[in-house]
Amino acid sequence: MMLDKARRLVTASARSDVPPFMVMDVMAAAAAIEARGGHVIHMEVGQPAAPAPRSAIAAAKAALDTGDIGYTAALGIPALRARIARHYAETHGVTVEPERIVVTTGSSAGFILAFLALFEPGDRIAVACPGYPPYRHILTALGCEPVMIGISAATRWSITVDALLEAHRRAPLKGVLVASPANPTGTMIRPDDLSRLIAAAEGEGIRFISDEIYHGLDYAFPAETAAKFSDNAVIINSFSKYFCMTGWRVGWMVAPDALVRPVERLQQNLAISVPTLSQIAAAAAFEGRDEMEAVKHGYEENRRILVEGLPTAGLDKFLPVDGAFYLYADISRFSNDSFDFAKRMLEQAGVAATPGIDFDPVHGREFVRFSYAGSAADMREAVQRIGTWLNRS
Ligand SMILES: Cc1ncc(COP(=O)(O)O)c(C=O)c1O
Repeated sequence: MMLDKARRLVTASARSDVPPFMVMDVMAAAAAIEARGGHVIHMEVGQPAAPAPRSAIAAAKAALDTGDIGYTAALGIPALRARIARHYAETHGVTVEPERIVVTTGSSAGFILAFLALFEPGDRIAVACPGYPPYRHILTALGCEPVMIGISAATRWSITVDALLEAHRRAPLKGVLVASPANPTGTMIRPDDLSRLIAAAEGEGIRFISDEIYHGLDYAFPAETAAKFSDNAVIINSFSKYFCMTGWRVGWMVAPDALVRPVERLQQNLAISVPTLSQIAAAAAFEGRDEMEAVKHGYEENRRILVEGLPTAGLDKFLPVDGAFYLYADISRFSNDSFDFAKRMLEQAGVAATPGIDFDPVHGREFVRFSYAGSAADMREAVQRIGTWLNRS
């Protein structure tokens, strides 16, 4: 009886039935090895090892001492919105009015707000495959339909105008989401291609969302913001990656004018406001750019170690290592089951990486993602361990 009642009252909704993140299994296995005293090199986690800028931490400490940590305006602290707007002028030479900046709880909440403000249930939104899994899982949970567009070397690992229009002809799209630098591929879209893609999407009435969370971590060429090409694009960004502030949960959105008020109403109802302490820290983070540039140079060195070292270790096929801190390696010479490959590499070589199936249900079986956000010593050790392991197995 009790069980029947519970079943009737607490059955999870179909929309909550989103897939888990496989990398969590790798992380649990790595933790078990470490609990036994083993040493694991962590290349599975997509977060910086470095702390937030000192300026951000100092601002948060000072604010804590005042004890005055109340709600803020739903769109964010005015000084932070103004500072973010100034960042577009300084970094990209683009004027973005502070009124268009919305502070969000990490970029993750930015996606929820943007999708709710832009789309109706049933709308179809194009995303790249491989791509960051929460794009499609958030869309599904909101009743929208993610449409996966395969990307490959032939399309320089990005959604092309042709692929977008072809998908749109098959069944109309309401939106498209592009990230550059991207996760898991670490690839970037060239500014000209970005501009063409935005124009093509907007020409067909397809709303454009640009995930710029890895901006600042660009090595192949400077990343360009979609704000340069359109006032109608929705831009999502975050303090998590370049500013090393993952746990502070603070990001932002550049919204088209017509979307600011709807997003404000949503944020008022869904969250009231973004954690105040994190907003105060974020406003001060921009003063820590020198520190963050030093962290970035560390990633560049790590990238060099892997790009030069992995081929000699046996992993000689990977995507262009343009930006972010990811290297997406083709492991098909060794296995067609990236989950099993990652598991064995962890158990036998002590190197943790993320199986591609998290990012691409089809070809992800043949890829593994390495994060190079750790130390140079760890990168050198990883190359050496992988080489020894692959030669042995
Ligand atoms: C491509 C991409 N977008 C968004 C996020 C979400 O980050 P956050 O919510 O910390 O801003 C991540 C996190 O790994 C990511 O890789």
